[in-house]
This record gives sequence, structure tokens and C-alpha cells, in this order.
Amino acid sequence: MTKITAAITGVETFVPEYILTNNELSQMVDTSDEWIMTRIGIRERHILKGEGKGTSDMGAPAVEKLLKKTGTKPEEVDLLICATVTGDMPFPATANIISDKVGIKNAFSYDINAACSGFVYAVITAVKFIESGQYRKVVVVGADKMSSITDYTDRTTCPIFGDAAGAILIEPTNNDNCIIDHIFHVDGSGRKYLHQKAGGSCKPASHETIDAREHFVYQEGQSVFKFAVSKMADVSLEIMEKHGITPDNLAWLVPHQANMRIIDATARRMGIKREQVMINIERYGNTTSATIPLCLWEWEKKLKKGDNLILAAFGGGFTWGAIYVKWAYDSN
Ligand code: UT7
Repeated sequence: MTKITAAITGVETFVPEYILTNNELSQMVDTSDEWIMTRIGIRERHILKGEGKGTSDMGAPAVEKLLKKTGTKPEEVDLLICATVTGDMPFPATANIISDKVGIKNAFSYDINAACSGFVYAVITAVKFIESGQYRKVVVVGADKMSSITDYTDRTTCPIFGDAAGAILIEPTNNDNCIIDHIFHVDGSGRKYLHQKAGGSCKPASHETIDAREHFVYQEGQSVFKFAVSKMADVSLEIMEKHGITPDNLAWLVPHQANMRIIDATARRMGIKREQVMINIERYGNTTSATIPLCLWEWEKKLKKGDNLILAAFGGGFTWGAIYVKWAYDSN
């Protein structure tokens, strides 16, 4: 019996219209375009505006476009997994809401929270369902409305984040152009450097938590930076070595877009050129679960069947990991 493998067969995104520029941010906090470009590499980010709009309002249109593009009927989807840290509500899962909005009725769906590594964790979860032979069409959504947990009075965090959603379809195949392997890690002791203090079961929302601005991202930037640089590079190198991938036969590194300097350091450590790295942080910022599908979507037309890709992420938890993919299709 041939082994069932899992391949990415389509990618789509939704990016909200409103663009928050560094110049506009400079009027909100004491910062400058020059500082943000030099230290982070972000020029602008998109923000979801509108009363009552949440993460599913980006995830659902991304999935709708994906189903249309891949000729998939909503009823054919077996499973939808949404990676997010900014669900519409604490419960139910945003995946359930997206499924409802797009008419996915014959599936089950749930969320995965692994912060900026959420998308890669969700991809491998989907792969295992496909490889089991029991499921044929799995949608993975990475979506975050980071503006809902960003403190626009804190100059150390507010330039970093943006809002967006990306969605991919994963289907079975029986050839080598598939999602081949992954290496994932976690170190929960890193939570002290990057978290949201209130709104969970330890510290439910109260007047005090609101007054203390504890419903926003808390980050000790330098500590996170140091871990991100070494861990994302280490794991990417580890998966290259494991599979005999060299700088010459790697088509693309698809890194989580947190900081231009982290991306550059990872590429340097892997011995690859900037031209082999998908980088769009300048226009979207850090969209948490959506960064990697946003890259795949922007570069889709350049990707060729059989291309070696490494998807790499690092995020809150700490969580980090890399996936080795042999791209499955040529775009027309
Ligand atoms: O995706 C999840 C994982 N997250 C990450 O990977 C983020 C990792 N961390 C980073 O990317 C960087 O640490 C930051 C972008 C958050 C900060 O950059 P940094 O180079 O580490 O800056 P810093 O925190 O060391 O601050 C340097 C200086 C400080 O001033 P002093 O104390 O030297 O006078 C800050 O107050 O820059 C100041 N500063 C700013 N100045 C202008 C901090 N934020 C700003 C700002 N504009 N927005």
C-alpha cells in the first residue's frame, strides 16, 4: 500500500483595507519611521476597522476565496483548524465561527493557540489527519486581529503588529511533493517575556485590569529577540541537515515575520541569500498566525512543483519550529 502524504494545494488571504503608517504612529507615540524601519523593518501594517469586527471577519473571507480558487465546495471540507491568539470570543472557537460563516457543515473545527508558531503547529496537525487516511480536505487558517490586543500608548509594542488572515488547503497525495517533515519545540518558561496579563482564568477582566492596561501584549523585547534569533535559526538549520538540504537546493525560506533583523540573522546562519527568503514584513508587520500564509500567497506564482521550502516560526510560549515542504503545484 502506498503511503498517503499531505500537500498544500492552495493558499488565499484577507488583508483589511486600512493602512496604519509609521508616520501616523509617530503622531500617537514618541517614535519615528526611521527608528521603526531600522530596528524592526516595518513601514506599515493593515488594521481591521469597524464596530464588532473580529478575527473571523478576516478568516472567513480568506477561506471563501480559498474554496473558490481550489474549486472546493464548503460541504466537502472535513476539518477546519484556526490558529489564533485573538479569537472573536474566549469561546466558542473562532474556527467554528468561520465554518458557520462560509457554510462548512460536514466538518469539525477547532482553534490552536501557539502564538506566532500557531500556523505551523496547525499545519502539522492537519497533515496527521490527512496521513491517517480518514480525512481528505483540511483547511488551515492563520488569523489574528492583533490591533485588538495592542496598546497604542506603548511605543515598544505598537509598531510591531498588524491584522490579517491566511488560509491553505491540505489534501492527500501519494508522491514526494508534499509536507515532508517538521521539528517543533516548546519552552513554557519563556512565558514571562511575552504574554497577556489579564483576561484569562488567572486574572479575569476587572476594572483594575482595565485600568492597569493588562489586556494588551506584554513583551520584554530584548529577551524575546535573543531567543527568537537563536531558536529560529537553530531549528531551521537542524531540519536542513536532517534532510540534506543545502543553500544551493533550498528554493525558499518562509520565516515568521517578527523583525527584519531576526529574519536576516536566520538566513545568515543557514548560509542562504536574501533572495531565497520570503520577506514582506515592511508592508504587513507581524500578523502573528497569518505571516507565513501571507508570504506563501504573495510568492505563490513564483513557486514551482518540487521546490524545497522551509517554513520557520518563533513565538510566545515560547514555541518554535520548522517544517520542510516540497511544493506541490505550479501556478498558472
Ligand atoms: O512574534 C513574536 C515574537 N516577537 C519578537 O520576535 C519580537 C522580538 N523583539 C524585537 O523585535 C525587538 O526587541 C523590539 C523591536 C521589540 C525592540 O527593539 P530593540 O532593538 O530590542 O530595542 P530596545 O527594546 O532595546 O530599546 C532600545 C531603545 C530604548 O531606549 P533607551 O532605553 O536606549 O533610551 C527604547 O526605549 O529604543 C527605545 N524604543 C523606541 N524608540 C523609538 C523602544 N521602542 C521605540 C520606538 N521608537 N517605537
